[in-house]
Amino acid sequence: MMNKSFVFLLVLSFSWVAAYSQDFISCVESRLSNATSISQLIFTPENASFLPIWQSRVQNARFLKDTTPKPSIIVTPTDESQVQTTFLCAKENGYRVRIRSGGHDFEGISFTDYLAFVMIDLINMRSIDVDVASKSAWVQSGAVLGELYYAISQKTNTLYFPGGTWPTVAIAGLVGGGGTGNLLRKYATAGDNVLDARIVDVNGNILDRKSMGEDLFWAIRGGVASNFGIVLSWKLNLVPVPEKVTVFIVNRTLEQGATDLFYKYQSVVPNTKDRNLYIRSQLASEFIGNTTKKTIRIIFQGIYQGSTDMLLPLLNKEFPELGVTREICREMTSIQSTLVFAGRPSTTPTEILNNRSATPRMSSKTKSSFVTTPIPKSGLRKIWRKFFENDLSGGILIIPSGGRMADYSETATPYPHRAGTLYLLASSVNFAGQTSDITPVSLRRLAWLASLEKLLTPYVSRNPRQSYVNNNDFDFGIGADNYTIASVWGERYWKRANFKKLIRIKAKVDPQNFFNHPQGIPVFSAL
Ligand SMILES: Cc1cc2nc3c(=O)[nH]c(=O)nc-3n(C[C@H](O)[C@H](O)[C@H](O)COP(=O)(O)OP(=O)(O)OC[C@H]3O[C@@H](n4cnc5c(N)ncnc54)[C@H](O)[C@@H]3O)c2cc1C
Ligand SMILES: *[C@@H]1O[C@H](CO)[C@@H](O)[C@H](O)[C@H]1NC(C)=O
Ligand SMILES: *[C@@H]1O[C@H](CO)[C@@H](O)[C@H](O)[C@H]1NC(C)=O
Ligand SMILES: *[C@@H]1O[C@H](CO)[C@@H](O)[C@H](O)[C@H]1NC(C)=O
Ligand SMILES: *[C@@H]1O[C@H](CO)[C@@H](O)[C@H](O)[C@H]1NC(C)=O
Ligand SMILES: *[C@@H]1O[C@H](CO)[C@@H](O)[C@H](O)[C@H]1NC(C)=O
Ligand SMILES: *[C@@H]1O[C@H](CO)[C@@H](O)[C@H](O)[C@H]1NC(C)=O
Repeated sequence: MMNKSFVFLLVLSFSWVAAYSQDFISCVESRLSNATSISQLIFTPENASFLPIWQSRVQNARFLKDTTPKPSIIVTPTDESQVQTTFLCAKENGYRVRIRSGGHDFEGISFTDYLAFVMIDLINMRSIDVDVASKSAWVQSGAVLGELYYAISQKTNTLYFPGGTWPTVAIAGLVGGGGTGNLLRKYATAGDNVLDARIVDVNGNILDRKSMGEDLFWAIRGGVASNFGIVLSWKLNLVPVPEKVTVFIVNRTLEQGATDLFYKYQSVVPNTKDRNLYIRSQLASEFIGNTTKKTIRIIFQGIYQGSTDMLLPLLNKEFPELGVTREICREMTSIQSTLVFAGRPSTTPTEILNNRSATPRMSSKTKSSFVTTPIPKSGLRKIWRKFFENDLSGGILIIPSGGRMADYSETATPYPHRAGTLYLLASSVNFAGQTSDITPVSLRRLAWLASLEKLLTPYVSRNPRQSYVNNNDFDFGIGADNYTIASVWGERYWKRANFKKLIRIKAKVDPQNFFNHPQGIPVFSAL
């Protein structure tokens, strides 16, 4: 990546910045009628609020450091025409653009870049229009999941959206990379539940599903939308849910039989015929009591789209070892279950889901793989031993698949991890107690994470080893001099057929490769 032309552009970009930022601002002002309000939407490093605004938009604190390249200009448009104008003025004045909705990108693609760039921040584009009669909602890209779920719950308790569980993840990034959550086994991915979308294309035109065509509509629902344009809003398909769902939490340490339990969990939950059942799990090490001996604790968080009376016979038959009893089952509305999965009591006022600063910010590095065959107990014991080498900063999150996912072919959307996938295994380390991700302790944690990845190799999908693009990871490789180079990361995220289709669509809709980043869909003819 650090080739000659790259360094050249980097040097050049610094001399461009000062010259163009005023031209950019004049361009925006001349094309929009209300210059007074426009000046409130544009922030340059001269504004005292510039750095605090940028910092508040970065959701992974790992990137909050001096060495992270910042935008030349931040623009916070409030309507579609402002997005259009911002984009065209950026392009005409030699800037790249970065598009930020929720700011959770694992590699910071939405808020950092080595070339001079305008950050288009969609924080003010967050309207949500729920239509119960047609079971759909138009949602602007910058709206976050907590706000969407809250808006739905204000109108009905019997519709929901199959999105993710973290309240501050935005619709745009989630759907753009696929989108998995508690309703995955019943209604598949978020991208499978999009009816229409409005985007700004590379020429600045606003297109909807009909005018963009089915190929581009396919690509933005899992192929990372920022490769193809700026999504303004999505028309989401809302799905029926029961008025009350059942939620339970079980946790077990190794001493309490966690190994056998996890071994069975791997095949029971993804394979159960009842699509109403979903149990995610989280695994971490801890000290036993106040001793210096470590154990593993696995927390199983279950949600059933139905009553306790229906859940208990199912678990008694298929997974009695989990020990779920009526006493630990709690019936609640879907919006309350969202609170529980966000780590809050179900009785918390649901308005908290509209408060973005109420959700903590992470500082972590994550790697993901997909598992297609249950990891044998010998393998689990190796993973436990690896965790015993860790300083308690590591963890694993398991997102089960199955059910409805197998109703879609691997090419139905860019998200290819369908039939035969048991679960997503996401391992991560946090940088708690560290001032950055490059302190000696942080580097040790990263090295541990890499060694865990290596240890997992025989147990996860192979040829290619699959990973979830919403957990994007530059360690897989970057750049795309030719297909061989690009396939190293591209086929991990999308498998061959989908990656090749994304490349064909990219060549049609963005032949100059304007929407470009280190793991961007390549345009070979332009290189
Ligand atoms: C704590 C945490 C929990 C998570 N939980 C889940 C989960 O339950 N399920 C799940 O599937 N994923 C989950 N993720 C992953 C998450 O879906 C991705 O990180 C997603 O890309 C974040 O979207 P964002 O809009 O918040 O982030 P951003 O950083 O704003 O955007 C991410 C990517 O989308 C692009 N983008 C943003 N807005 C637009 C737009 N309007 N048009 C075009 N491109 C755009 C950005 O340029 C960037 O490439 C989680 C991530 C974190 C950090
Ligand atoms: C222009 O912006 C100002 C300040 O934001 C606002 O008060 C005014 O209503 C706007 N006028 C128009 C025509 O949009
Ligand atoms: C940012 O600075 C410019 C130039 O000094 C000024 O015109 C503009 O009003 C400032 N914007 C904000 C939001 O303070
Ligand atoms: C695990 O469960 C026990 C009770 O069974 C509870 O006291 C404890 O807080 C739980 N731990 C976690 C981390 O959830
Ligand atoms: C842990 O330490 C406390 C006091 O330091 C002690 O009272 C308690 O018995 C210890 N528990 C165990 C399990 O050793
Ligand atoms: C939002 O949450 C933050 C952090 O918990 C809190 O300080 C703030 O008061 C909350 N804002 C509202 C409007 O409730
Ligand atoms: C792809 O590019 C790499 C590095 O530039 C080179 O080594 C390799 O031979 C190329 N492969 C093909 C098939 O062109």
